Amino acid sequence: MSLKENATCFNSQTLVSNFAQDVQTYSPASSRDKVTSKPKNENLYPLKLDWNESTVPPSPLVKEALKNALEKEINLLNWYPELYSKKLVSKLTEYTNRSADEILVTNGSDDALELICKIFLDPGDHVLVPFPTYTHFITYVQSRGAVLKKVETPDPFSPDITSIINNVTKDTKLIYIVNPNNPTGVLLSKKQISTVCSVAKNSVILVDEAYFEFSGESVSDLVETYPNLIVTRTLSKAWALAGLRVGYILTNPLTIKDLARVLNPKSVSALAQVAAYAALSDPQYMNRFVREVEASKMLLLDFFKKNNINAYDSAANYIMVQHPKLERLLYEMENENIFVRDRSFFKNLPGFFRITLGNHLQTDELLTRLERVLSRI
Ligand SMILES: Cc1ncc(COP(=O)(O)O)c(C=O)c1O
Repeated sequence: MSLKENATCFNSQTLVSNFAQDVQTYSPASSRDKVTSKPKNENLYPLKLDWNESTVPPSPLVKEALKNALEKEINLLNWYPELYSKKLVSKLTEYTNRSADEILVTNGSDDALELICKIFLDPGDHVLVPFPTYTHFITYVQSRGAVLKKVETPDPFSPDITSIINNVTKDTKLIYIVNPNNPTGVLLSKKQISTVCSVAKNSVILVDEAYFEFSGESVSDLVETYPNLIVTRTLSKAWALAGLRVGYILTNPLTIKDLARVLNPKSVSALAQVAAYAALSDPQYMNRFVREVEASKMLLLDFFKKNNINAYDSAANYIMVQHPKLERLLYEMENENIFVRDRSFFKNLPGFFRITLGNHLQTDELLTRLERVLSRI
C-alpha cells in the first residue's frame, strides 16, 4: 500500500495529544533563507539583524579548538559526547561563580526552558508571563496543557512588577520573566526580582537571562536565597555560538536534581561542548563585542532621535523602534538588505520593529543605508 492509501486507516492527527493539538505553532520567521539565497541587491552585503544573534563569528579560539579536537580526539564524532557536559560545567563554575551542583548544561536555552516546563507543569497549572515576551516559551507551556496567563503591562517600556504581583494566585505554578526582556530590552532590578521571588514564594520564578552579557546585571546569586528561583542563560548571543546550541541553567542543587530527572544527558553535542569551552576561555573577545554593541546602540538611538522616530534604549543587543509607516519601512529596508523583526503583532507594540545591534563597521553601513531608506519614505 502507498503512503496515501495507508493514510486512510492511520490518521496521526487523531493521535496527537490534546495538549499538543492546542499548541499554536511557533512561527520562527528568520531571514536566514533570504540572506543566504540571492539577495535583492547584490552589491550590499546582508545585514541580518532580526534574531539577536551575534553579528560576528565567535572567538578565534573556538575555530582552533574545534580543529584540534577533530584532529586529535579520534573518537570525538563516533562516541557519544561527555555526559552532562562535565568539563564545560567546570568552566562555567569560573564564569558564573556558582558551584557545579548548581549548573545544568542544555542544548541551547530553549532546551532549558522546555525542560523546566516538563518538570514543573501539570495540565491546568497557571503560568504568568508579562507581555510582550519571548514567544517560543509559550509553545512549551501549552504543550504541557498548562494555562498561559498573559500580564499586559500598560507601558511595556517601564520596568514595573506591580502587574505581575497583582496577578499571582494560588494556581500560579510558574512566572516567566525575560531579563532584560525580549523584545523591549527592559531590565528589572535585582530588588524587583527578589520581591517577585518572595511574594510568589510557592511558584517557580524562571528568569531568562539570554542577554545577560549585554546588561551586565544578573540575579544568579539570588539562587542562594530563593529556592524557587531558576535562571537560564545561553551562549547563542554575546558568545556567538547560536549555530551550536549551548545553554545552561543556574539554580539550587535540589532543583538541579529534579530537573536532571528528565534531562537527556547527551543532548549537547561533542563539538558544541568543545566550542563553548573555548569561547568561555576568551572573555576579552566577548567583552570587546559587547562594548561595540553598546556604542552602536548610542549611534542608532541618536540617529532615530534626529529623524524624529521613536526608538527605545535597551539593556540588550537590540532596540525597539516605532514607525507610523512600518510596512513601507520594512519593505524599503529589505531593498537595502537590512533584515529586522516586525514585533507589531503584540497588542501593546503598535508599529514596532526590533533591530539587532552589530559592531562599528556594520553600524556605519547600517546608518548609511537607513539614510537612503528614510529618503524614500
Ligand atoms: C529571551 C530568549 N530566551 C531564549 C532564547 C533561545 O536561545 P537559545 O539559542 O539558547 O536556545 C532566545 C533566542 O532568541 C531569547 O531571545
